[in-house]
Amino acid sequence: MRRKIVAGNWKMNNDLNQSMSLIDSVIENSAGITNCELYLSPSFPFLRDSKIKCEPTNIKVLAQNVSHLEKGALTGDVSCDMLKSININSVIIGHSERRTIFKENDDILLKKIELCVKNNFEIFLCIGEDLESRNSNKEFSVIEDQLNNTIFNLNDINPKKLIIAYEPVWAIGTGLSANPTQAQEMHNFIREKFKVKFSESISDNLTIIYGGSVKPETAKDIFDQPDVDGGLIGGASLNHNDFIKIAKSIT
Ligand code: PGA
Repeated sequence: MRRKIVAGNWKMNNDLNQSMSLIDSVIENSAGITNCELYLSPSFPFLRDSKIKCEPTNIKVLAQNVSHLEKGALTGDVSCDMLKSININSVIIGHSERRTIFKENDDILLKKIELCVKNNFEIFLCIGEDLESRNSNKEFSVIEDQLNNTIFNLNDINPKKLIIAYEPVWAIGTGLSANPTQAQEMHNFIREKFKVKFSESISDNLTIIYGGSVKPETAKDIFDQPDVDGGLIGGASLNHNDFIKIAKSIT
């Protein structure tokens, strides 16, 4: 059975009070959700308080990033050890905003992945093509390259500790979502690649979630696709009603 996951990526939104009250609202309204696992990803300064608040619930807390090195002179970075010391051991790696704005390339991302594996962290690895690649029919080769350059350098993976988030860059924060057919096609492609690289069992057990302008109105059709196991939700996760509606769309 594959894990079904809906994760809210708050990005650089919500101060302390806003973060705490959004978590309270999600906790209040998510009681009884058993169809999927819920994750919330607040900003670094609020991870510890978020974790403490979520501890008695089923909601898991996810960091938006982690350093590619263990420690040292890296102003502004946060290490795996630092996250571990506040009981956070799930991280997003390779979000397209990190890749494009902060110029994190596949070499850096591979180092992050290796460090996370060493620390037994759960990884949400984001991959996705930009509009130019999609318009020139290169979306599959871009995704294949992103996999080959990062996670496929490992000899083995634990599918219970890895979540692939397919997030077409042209759909992130734009209001333009991949349609269910486009999402299914790409998720199936990714699953096939994992089968060839690792094994059928790893591929069958791998959770692949979709991200990019998922809204309460569009979630069900996307989540109903056979290779889509949930979503990474940006904008809509800032509103607890929308986030919960999206989570309830998984069947
Ligand atoms: P969005 O963001 O839902 O606002 O498009 C998704 C993401 O960046 O993870």
